[in-house]
Amino acid sequence: MDEPIITTVDLTKVYGRAATEVRALDGVDFAVAAGEFVAIMGPSGSGKSTLLHIIGALEPPTAGTVALAGRRYDGLGDDELTRLRRERLGFVFQFFNLLPSLSALENVLLPALIARRHGADALRGRANELLTRVGIAGRAEHTPAELSGGEQQRVSIARALLLSPQVVLADEPTGNLDSRSGAEILRLLRGLNRDEHVTVVMVTHDPSAAAIADRVVFLRDGRVCDEVEGGSTQRVIDAFTAIQAPADEPELVGVGGTAAGVGV
Ligand SMILES: Nc1ncnc2c1ncn2[C@@H]1O[C@H](COP(=O)(O)OP(=O)(O)OP(=O)(O)O)[C@@H](O)[C@H]1O
Ligand SMILES: [Mg+2]
Repeated sequence: MDEPIITTVDLTKVYGRAATEVRALDGVDFAVAAGEFVAIMGPSGSGKSTLLHIIGALEPPTAGTVALAGRRYDGLGDDELTRLRRERLGFVFQFFNLLPSLSALENVLLPALIARRHGADALRGRANELLTRVGIAGRAEHTPAELSGGEQQRVSIARALLLSPQVVLADEPTGNLDSRSGAEILRLLRGLNRDEHVTVVMVTHDPSAAAIADRVVFLRDGRVCDEVEGGSTQRVIDAFTAIQAPADEPELVGVGGTAAGVGV
């Protein structure tokens, strides 16, 4: 692998104590190369969102380390972590998380407004370019309520890219979209990964979505239990089926992958 941009070592996250203790992550060693597009799959509760949140510096691990481009988070103070989150990472969520009273353009500019009070004007050009790049230049003045789900997700992707992050972290970005809009969003993310050289880590439940990635990593019970190369929905379905089968029983066939038909 090329020099990893993300590295986690023995990452552990425990929620609660004693009787209510949950080991959401149980020693995750995970690395992502710069420019790679990695999908994370696993059963519900396997720790996918927890892993993404810790890589995103949104919450600290209980033990173990995470580093972005060689900088370990445990050595950074709150201000440095906030800056790292704003300037080096972009986030895309299942429910878009747009501010309802702002236009699409204003939503895209929000990270700039928050990060540097005087920088927003300079970034207006980039925000407009990004709205064009994600295919909704004509909707710049619309509020989220006036946009379809797919269009709202395009706005949130443009917002994630505004400050040219090194890594975009996406938690089920197509989970709230119909299969056609979902496929368009996946194609868009893949294209941005190639054109803008942004590394993408995407959590998904959909084998055909995961198959657009270079690599698919599987979590079970808070541990990495397998990984396969992307490119084939069937290969992803087979691996996902295998990790869900009880160890002492033959594999069950078929997990009902919603073939969204992503032609990439
Ligand atoms: N803030 C929290 N407090 C307590 N337990 C939590 C918290 N967040 C997550 N958990 C628990 O940690 C485990 C992993 O949760 P996580 O959200 O990472 O799973 P996931 O793989 O993203 O699941 P899903 O596919 O349903 O989104 C689950 O058992 C969950 O209940
Ligand atoms: Mg989750």
